[in-house]
Amino acid sequence: MTETAIAEHKKNWEIKHSERGDQYQMNIQVVDTPRNETRIVFVSSGDTAKEIPDFEGKTGETTVRYDGETTYIYCGIGDPDGCTTEHIRSAAACGVRKAGLLKRSEVTVVEPTQLSNDGGPQAALEGAILGAYRYAHFKTEKPVTVDRIDYVGNHLTDKDAMRNGVICESVNFARDLVNENASDVYPDRLAREARMMAEQHSMSCTILTEKEISERGLGLLEAVGKGSPYPPRLIILEYKGAPDTPHKTAVVGKGITFDSGGQNLKPRGGIETMRTDMAGAATTLGIMRVIGTLKPQINVIGVVAAAHNAIGGDAYFPGDVYRSYKGTTVEITNTDAEGRLVLADAFSYVQTHFSPTEMIDFATLTGGILVALGSTVTGLFSNDDAMAQKLFDSGEETGERLWRLPLYPEYTDAMKSDIADLRNSAKLKKGHASSVTAGAFLREFVEEDVSWCHLDIAGTAFNEGEPRGINPKLATGVGIRLIMNYLNLN
Ligand code: BES
Ligand code: ZN
Ligand code: ZN
Repeated sequence: MTETAIAEHKKNWEIKHSERGDQYQMNIQVVDTPRNETRIVFVSSGDTAKEIPDFEGKTGETTVRYDGETTYIYCGIGDPDGCTTEHIRSAAACGVRKAGLLKRSEVTVVEPTQLSNDGGPQAALEGAILGAYRYAHFKTEKPVTVDRIDYVGNHLTDKDAMRNGVICESVNFARDLVNENASDVYPDRLAREARMMAEQHSMSCTILTEKEISERGLGLLEAVGKGSPYPPRLIILEYKGAPDTPHKTAVVGKGITFDSGGQNLKPRGGIETMRTDMAGAATTLGIMRVIGTLKPQINVIGVVAAAHNAIGGDAYFPGDVYRSYKGTTVEITNTDAEGRLVLADAFSYVQTHFSPTEMIDFATLTGGILVALGSTVTGLFSNDDAMAQKLFDSGEETGERLWRLPLYPEYTDAMKSDIADLRNSAKLKKGHASSVTAGAFLREFVEEDVSWCHLDIAGTAFNEGEPRGINPKLATGVGIRLIMNYLNLN
């Protein structure tokens, strides 16, 4: 991060970024002596914990002690020998959540002694910022949350802190976007967020309206969006930090701002959280917010395929056939398998007009991925072993774990149609390999020479339970730190 970028970011502290005007940007500083009265202190389950009565230092455990004006929040990181950055990150998040419950809005994070030169300091700060997030927009009585974090320690420079700050605040930005009402975050709202971001960070921004989507032949995106009063958009943000190199990463996000299922209407129990079906789009915008702020020497395009999958007289019909931008025809065997349709057209459009060398998509694509991996691991599919391995390794480092599933030929066979080239839901028994057949469908729209990874975040983008480590209740903002690690920007 350059000095100018840091200065610009600091100046922006007072600017409200989202249309709703929330302040997800925090006041973060590295200081020599603690200035705040509330301290976050890391304790392992070894000797140190023994000095604190009724505290074992287990991972996730916190305890509070007072000494005059100072409040110490001790945060357990478990066995000192097995300590990982994820333990520190989670502990910091738990500590900051505790500070919020104690109505403290300012904390000092005291540098952990573990992993000093191996990511420990960054993890402590990251956990603190991510743990401070709470979605309280609709709460009449606003809870106190931490918005000022001082960091005391020798292993983190101002620059490091600022970079971590930008990344984690962008996770909080993405969380906000997912948590908002579907009636407020519709396709054009996502387009406006992208345009604002482009103006603020001097990136170029292309937005295709419903008319252009139709005229240019993005027939699948058009079909999915046509039942809604909120028309679809294709949103493309382009950042050129290394104009002389051909290497270019495209990040593509599924932006279904509400997924009713369409004519194949979702049942009770399946529909209530479907405003979150644009989490992939939020992750993409969060990534571009970081890229735009840090201005690294790489080329990145952020693409959002945005539509509202509505039910109604104008909505697309099961059984009908639509032509994709690529030219391939698709029989709609289920209007609820809409994510792959909008992504397919986004893939083709971006490959035709922007020639990326690699492509990563984020999508809340299938309920099946929850059956396979639950809500803590993201599904990974790829046509490139080396790329998949690199992304997997990044996930191990950031704590956003991935697990790869296969794309064997029989899964592609299951997507063949009698009436068209492809069908959009598999002809296998209901529920069989639904995440994999979705991946196989997507692969049909990836060009031979493009390395591609598909990340199914349907399980990991939203936390229906209690806060867990760095993940608050509701939207998690998964994937942003992962990509920053993958691009070596963390
Ligand atoms: N948006 C859903 C997937 C989803 C489910 C996301 C649960 C988050 C939580 C997606 O569009 C969908 O409905 N997929 C169907 C595909 C099926 C019809 C082939 C599914 O997974 O059931
Ligand atoms: Zn659906
Ligand atoms: Zn969906």
